[in-house]
Amino acid sequence: MATIPTDRVPDSTLALLREGYRYIGTRCDRYGSDVFQTRLLLRRTICMRGRPASVLFYDTERFERAGAMPVRVQWTLTGRGGVQSLDGAAHRDRKAMLMSLMTPSAIRHLGQLFDDEWRARISVWEGAGPVVLYRELGRMLTRAVCAWAGVPLADAQVTRRTADLHAMIGSGAAIGPVHWWGRLARRRGERWLAEVVDQVRAGTLPAPAGSALRVIAEYRDTRGRVLPRRIAAVELLNLLRPTVAVGRFIVFAALALHDHPAWRERVREDADATEPFVHEVRRYYPFFPAASARVRRPFEWHGYQFPRGRRVLLDLYGTNHHPSLWPEPERFRPERFADRRPDAYALVPQGGGEHSGHRCAGEWITIELMKRAVTNLTSTIRYDVPPQDLAVDLRRLPALPPSGFVVTNVRRTA
Ligand code: HEM
Repeated sequence: MATIPTDRVPDSTLALLREGYRYIGTRCDRYGSDVFQTRLLLRRTICMRGRPASVLFYDTERFERAGAMPVRVQWTLTGRGGVQSLDGAAHRDRKAMLMSLMTPSAIRHLGQLFDDEWRARISVWEGAGPVVLYRELGRMLTRAVCAWAGVPLADAQVTRRTADLHAMIGSGAAIGPVHWWGRLARRRGERWLAEVVDQVRAGTLPAPAGSALRVIAEYRDTRGRVLPRRIAAVELLNLLRPTVAVGRFIVFAALALHDHPAWRERVREDADATEPFVHEVRRYYPFFPAASARVRRPFEWHGYQFPRGRRVLLDLYGTNHHPSLWPEPERFRPERFADRRPDAYALVPQGGGEHSGHRCAGEWITIELMKRAVTNLTSTIRYDVPPQDLAVDLRRLPALPPSGFVVTNVRRTA
């Protein structure tokens, strides 16, 4: 039996925080192996990258999610008791409920609501001063997704709710005040949505049939019980929070259009070029560094022993940049997706495998919102990009250009 290469330091948590997205890949390169072992947050952890690792990681006979997510991430980003932490029949059933919301017409509806937000904001941006795209997108996406989900949101609440959703997204890997702000934001968000769920269940707030709010409030689990109000709130936040997070990918799309003007022309002239462009943005730019699971029962793989209970991280960023999967992985080349569908275990910015497994429930929503944003940025408006700090720091989790992408002189085309 082979021994998994081991990082011989007492604990690598600080190295992970220092090195960010490249932490796993750097060590894989150093050991000449796509698997190595270390200690993170004081727990022995196996780190892996690449397509075979991705196929292994999404095998639910071998891995489970209960107890896999660090508590710091649960207190901020994901919450406790949501679909991410479930296994087996409980996961299948809850995930099927969430995926029932992802019909083509529902996704189109959210896209139209987002387009309405663009229309309204472009009128404000015209003739105004500099516009920070990331900040604007946060408000636009919060309004669009709340309207889509059936969650009431007064105009006066938009700033506060958007700030809280951003704080949950930005604080999972943070330490100190940013982390504590994220915890507070999550508590506030769960309290808000638990009250909304109470009102729907009491019949005092109408929720449209088929809306996320109604479906989640009325969902019954495999034993016929409705979700506790806090867990229902966690699942609603599982839709609201990541939809607002799509703003980060849209900022990266704006950055890619800026850095690759030939692609700006190409997507403007050929609507079929937009989807390959969006896939390449999702592959190339950093978002979630890794997904985590625990070994469900001991097994051997490629001669390596995976003991029961061991935490395993799949390097999502490293798999999206693996040289054996992507020729010239550090070049932005949307044409790599021109005539092939993405491989479910190779393009993994939102997890891998089937959507009935733990792969992201909102991947189709993400693609739809990004496509609409790219169309607006290339065909509906023109703008200038003044000098600003657009560097993408791969040591920062989650990464974003510090300026938030500022545009000036926004005007409508034609
Ligand atoms: C901003 C773009 C997004 C990124 C980068 C992203 C990324 C991810 C990743 C990496 C996972 C975990 C996969 C795993 O554990 O193996 C995940 C899960 C999930 N995502 Fe997303 N996501 C995005 C947008 C969305 C949207 C728009 C929604 C919903 C509207 C959504 C809802 C979920 C849910 C509910 C899960 C848990 C799925 C499960 O455990 O079965 N995400 N996402």
